Formats: sequence, structure tokens, C-alpha cells
Amino acid sequence: MPSGRGWSLDHLSDAWLGRSHRAAPGKEKLARVIDLTREILGIPESHRIAIVPGSDTGAVELALWSLLGSRGVDMLAWESFGREWVDDVNDSLKLDDARVLEADYGTLPDLDAVDWARDVVFTWNGTTSGVRVPHGDWIADDRQGLAICDATSAAFAMDLPWDKLDVTTWSWQKVLGGEGAHGMLVLSPRAVERLESSAPLRPLPKLFRLTKGGKLIEGIFRGQTINTPSMLCVEDALDGLGWARDLGGLDALIARTNANAAALHGWVANTPWIANLADDPGTASTTSVCLKLVDTPAEPKRIAALLGNENAAYDIGAYRKAPPGLRIWCGATVETDDINALLPWLDWAHATALQETS
Ligand SMILES: Cc1ncc(COP(=O)(O)O)c(C=O)c1O
Repeated sequence: MPSGRGWSLDHLSDAWLGRSHRAAPGKEKLARVIDLTREILGIPESHRIAIVPGSDTGAVELALWSLLGSRGVDMLAWESFGREWVDDVNDSLKLDDARVLEADYGTLPDLDAVDWARDVVFTWNGTTSGVRVPHGDWIADDRQGLAICDATSAAFAMDLPWDKLDVTTWSWQKVLGGEGAHGMLVLSPRAVERLESSAPLRPLPKLFRLTKGGKLIEGIFRGQTINTPSMLCVEDALDGLGWARDLGGLDALIARTNANAAALHGWVANTPWIANLADDPGTASTTSVCLKLVDTPAEPKRIAALLGNENAAYDIGAYRKAPPGLRIWCGATVETDDINALLPWLDWAHATALQETS
């Protein structure tokens, strides 16, 4: 399926620039981001959606600082970002009752070991290991704790079960490829109830405050942001959401992502020097596909550098904290033709790097 009109700075000419975001047209644009997000992702009316500061990190930390502490928490970590949230809980929040369920790059922790009497923090798609949870069946319907999910490289590319998620976050620059700036935060009624029923356990910076006098500040969930947003980024988010809707919405975005990942996985299956970092194909990411080199002295960093020098691919080396390898973005904004065009380049770069070692 063609991606339609693509991206151009001209699409942002209607941006509400140099004016107050609190004036009616500014507010309307912010509210439209929320409404389109709800429409495309099928987020139920019962759930609140906010635009928050600080990209995905801001959204996750706002949730951790605001919600955790009234009961024990299970922290799931199988790559770099999940581990960052573990550090927050252990080193910054210093929660007494935090249990860490960890797994190495390429695998998932035992999802059946999660205790749903506790709050649970996890990443839907581990962007730096290319391992994702396969579905939400492991999340208990009768959970007492909150399911808090960092879905930044999953939202708009994978199905998210809204009835199973109490807090969901992502950033604008991931699957829809918008300008990075703001984070999105989705709260279930149970998350709102927690916010309103337990007094804050710690002082919260203004940037994290969602309640006043024990009541949710509803305006934040209508686009009256906590602080000043970039209206240029808002316009770009609207452009991405409009593109996604015109393309056919979530199903079309998932189909494009799956086609990209299938093209890449097909090449991996037929290429002896490379393999998926994900051990189990059922948990392999369709957006951030992470690959490891096998039985070859060629260095992944050299392969990535050769491809960068030729302007064939940028930033496809593994994340700095992940095992050495390649990471190829297959999200919905990528054309499958471009993935297919990359494949011979990968073979070329490997052959060149190999030659250099001999
Ligand atoms: C799973 C995950 N969490 C968090 C982040 C950090 O996101 P941001 O830079 O939007 O704060 C990323 C960035 O790639 C990510 O992939």
C-alpha cells in the first residue's frame, strides 16, 4: 500500500506559531491531537488522554512518580529502557517493595511470574532488544494493581488491549515519525481512581502534577497542557495522525509494519551471517528489528559505518547499551520497497567489512 502524500514542511503551514496555545485555535489543535489519537487507536471513551512534557520519558516518569508506592510493584525489564524504569524505582523513588523480573537481551522474563496484586511496569516493545510481549493475555482482568506500559515503539504499529492497560505512554517521534517533544499519556478509570484516592506519597514537580486538591485536573485531558507546548510539533503530530487516518487507520499501520518486518525477517532467514536477537520468533519486534552477527569476523559497527558513508542507511547500529549488532526500523512510515532496497546494501556492507578483516 502506498504511503500517500509523504512528509513535507509545507504540510505544517497552518501551524499556530507565535501565538498563545491557550487561545481558542491553539486549544482546538491540541484537543484535535487527543481526538484523532483516540479515533485511530480505538481508545475507549472511559480512558483519558493527555499531551505531557518530556516525550515518552516524561510520560513514563510522570506516571511512576504520581502512582507508585501505595502497593508493591513488579518491574519487568529485558532491555535498556525497561532497566531505566527499574533504576528510577530503586535509585530515585527508593520504593521498599519493588521486585525486578529481568531477562537478558533477546528474551522475555517469565510473564506468568507477575503478581497482579501489585502494580506492574513493563515495556510493550523493547526497542533496544527487538523483543516484545506477544499479546496482553498474561495481564489479569481482575488485577488489583495497575498495569503501567511504556508503549513508545508499539503504539500505532501493534494492537494494544486498552482494557488491560491502566497507564500507557508513547512519544510522537516513534511510529508516526513526528517531531520529538511531547509524550502521550493514557489513563484507565482505575488509574484515575488511584490518582484521586491516594494522597501523593512524595512532592511532585509541577511538570508531573495531574491532580489538584485530590481531583484530576480534567483540562489536561482536553489539551490544556501542563506547560507550554511547541505548536510546530503539534502541527506535525496532526499531520502524522491525518496521514495515518487517511491511510486506513490502525489496521493499515499494522499491516505496513508487518510487511516491512516480514521482508527483513525473510532476508535474515536466508542469510547465514545474521540472525534475530530475539530468541523466540513469537516475541520478535515488528518495529525495532534487532539482529546479531553470527559466524563472521565482520564488525557490526563497521557495517553500520559503511552504510552511513554511502547514505544507504543511518543509525542502524545496535543501541549503545545493547549487544553489538544491527537495528533496523520497520515502523509504519517506512516503505517496504525501501526495506527491500536496503537488503543488497546489507550484503554489500558485510562483504566489504569482511574483506577488510582479511
Ligand atoms: C521503549 C522506549 N522507552 C522510552 C524511550 C525514550 O523515549 P523519549 O526519547 O521519547 O523520551 C524510548 C526511545 O527510543 C523507547 O524506545
